[in-house]
Amino acid sequence: MELIDGKKINAAMRLEIAEEVRKMVAEGKKRPNLAVIMVGDDGASATYVASKVKTCHEVGFESTDYQYPATATEAEILAKIEDINQNPEIDGLIVQLPLPTHISESKVIEAIDHRKDVDGFHPINTGRMAMGLPSYLPATPAGIIELLRRYNIETGGKNCVVLGRSNIVGTPISLLMSRKANPGNATVTICHSRTKNLKEVCASADILIVAIGQPEFVTADMVKPGAVVIDVGIHRMPSAETKSGFKLKGDVNFDEVAPKCSYITPVPGGVGPMTIISLLQNTLLAAQQKIY
Ligand code: GUN
Repeated sequence: MELIDGKKINAAMRLEIAEEVRKMVAEGKKRPNLAVIMVGDDGASATYVASKVKTCHEVGFESTDYQYPATATEAEILAKIEDINQNPEIDGLIVQLPLPTHISESKVIEAIDHRKDVDGFHPINTGRMAMGLPSYLPATPAGIIELLRRYNIETGGKNCVVLGRSNIVGTPISLLMSRKANPGNATVTICHSRTKNLKEVCASADILIVAIGQPEFVTADMVKPGAVVIDVGIHRMPSAETKSGFKLKGDVNFDEVAPKCSYITPVPGGVGPMTIISLLQNTLLAAQQKIY
């Protein structure tokens, strides 16, 4: 069994992106610039946003976060999005989700200029991805593809089972795994709450991608010997083993599943470190006008 080390790949990609920025600046070009809009004071979102802005600065990007109180109106947010859409200094724009319930997520996402939608959430990017056209790929699926690519894991002709059908992970990763590409060319099955014989379907997977949002849902009896297991979940669970009283767990019961796998992503340190770096990769592509 080999661990897929997301931290190591993250570090390599940071160096590659920083080197690209250095070249751009040496050629007299402006630094890539990412704007982040956050509404409200959700603790987890605030941590993610701070981490995104900090990582941008570490690789040499410009980045600004625009913080709004939870009482901000939809019109205010839409006006700010339009302002950033029109600003030629800014290459990428993301609005941190979730939003307060009085603001429509789909209106907000559709207001972002798709050429600056480095989250890959705009219907134009989603549609283009589904059609195999150049587009910004959402961060978590793009990170999973990058892990498979950099570990030279064979995906062509393999049975890939995806647990979960969310717009952010399950649906896009199933499209990417089935497209005519490498990584890709897999035979993909998507499982969800109505799936029958879930255990048997999972146990048929050469590659099992788990984004179901339930701690330690996947047990050893659901995994084929030699399978590749990608765990997207992250849960803060009470634990007597740690000083903090908490331990991070994935959607996979790592201790019992890992010995059966050829490759597995740990939690933390697997898929997690890949999401922010994928967002930065998209912002670099935006600044270099490589997609649009
Ligand atoms: N909230 C949780 N994940 C994400 C993400 O990838 N992008 C944005 N904008 N919000 C999120």
